[in-house]
Amino acid sequence: MSVPKRWIGLALSIVASIAMYYHPVSWFSVPKRVIVLGGGVVGLQTAVDLLEAGYAVNLISKDLPGDIDLNYPSQQAAATWASDEPVVDVETKRWYEEGYKQWEVMSQGDEFHSAGVAKRPCFRYWENPPENLVKGGSSALWHSEGVSSFRILKSEELPSGVGFGTTFTTFCVNAPAYLDYLQSRILALGGTIKRATLPVDKGLEEGLKAARLLIADELAGSKDQPVYAYVNAMGMNAMRLADDKTLFPIRSQSIHIKGEAHKIADRIDANGIYYAIPRVGEGVTVLGGFMEVGNWNATINPELNRKILKGCKQLIPECLDDNGEFTILKEYVGLRPHRKVGPRVEIEQLKDKAEFGESIVVHNYGHGPGGFFKSVGASRKVVRLLNGFASDTETPSSSSKEQEVFEGFYRQGDHSKEEDV
Ligand SMILES: *[C@@H]1O[C@H](CO)[C@@H](O)[C@H](O)[C@H]1NC(C)=O
Repeated sequence: MSVPKRWIGLALSIVASIAMYYHPVSWFSVPKRVIVLGGGVVGLQTAVDLLEAGYAVNLISKDLPGDIDLNYPSQQAAATWASDEPVVDVETKRWYEEGYKQWEVMSQGDEFHSAGVAKRPCFRYWENPPENLVKGGSSALWHSEGVSSFRILKSEELPSGVGFGTTFTTFCVNAPAYLDYLQSRILALGGTIKRATLPVDKGLEEGLKAARLLIADELAGSKDQPVYAYVNAMGMNAMRLADDKTLFPIRSQSIHIKGEAHKIADRIDANGIYYAIPRVGEGVTVLGGFMEVGNWNATINPELNRKILKGCKQLIPECLDDNGEFTILKEYVGLRPHRKVGPRVEIEQLKDKAEFGESIVVHNYGHGPGGFFKSVGASRKVVRLLNGFASDTETPSSSSKEQEVFEGFYRQGDHSKEEDV
């Protein structure tokens, strides 16, 4: 049977309009170029999303997957989906939802197997719960809706010393596997990755100029093509590049132990929160805790590690050896970039038109301890901003209100002096 020519023409034009709809950037012309600064989970995820949306992407970072550095906390992180926030604005809630849904998909599909995302039950215990939590129960916890199998634990289910507890189904991520997966996605989608250190103390525009010079070779074949946008996802260094005084580290120590816990668990005591999060597929569980806002100290505090180990023995007895001890593999300190007024995901215009023309910069930093799951929603927002779809009303980034965190989760660092990073 022969198909009339005009049907083929019609079919092709339908396909073309669908393609244009999903790739509004430019399906038939040269893709717009974006330089992403930062190779932590936020920068990598942003690069993947931009490539999938049809942009050309060159990523530049001082640290890349596999590196161990105080200021590259993605690599050593214990990553899970959990909320530190008693209330969230519309945009933040969207990020939580998008992260949860994305990991639901990734925990199931074979094609995502190497990314190391697994679905597990989570148990959260408060020793001295805030009164509104005890009175309000699930209505005082915004995240009780939307996650699977959420319930308040019955008093007979609580370990001794615990006044309130919840359980729900969530996800744990094998951080190094996840970073490797994102990196391979970037390369498979045609993006480039370059290791380089950019100047961050000479102002935003000097840093961006240096970034552009670095990839000049790659642009040589398409010299006339301007850089459409830059993304600042440099974690702690984003603060310096953007001269943002509201960014502080949240310091936490982590201990990698042998064996995979069967669940994700945390407990909030008078000193703060400590937790156990398995890295499924690696035979490792990451213990950590006592998140300190504004502490830059790179040295492990042995006293805090003793507290973490002692507390976690009760949380995950399944990982103890015959002598009732954990087998310790590694110990780390990490500084997570935390912004007091909430993460910053917004466009900034560049002033030097002679240098940058119409290029813009989109900031994507300050996600604190939630960087892994928030990277999903925050990166989609970067794409929406660059596509020109996002409205100003959904952004929390211009807010001057301090981000609310559950009482007792974070503690103030012993000193707030910024050391050399
Ligand atoms: C950093 O932490 C270590 C270990 O707890 C401690 O000995 C040292 O005094 C701290 N440094 C500063 C500058 O507080």
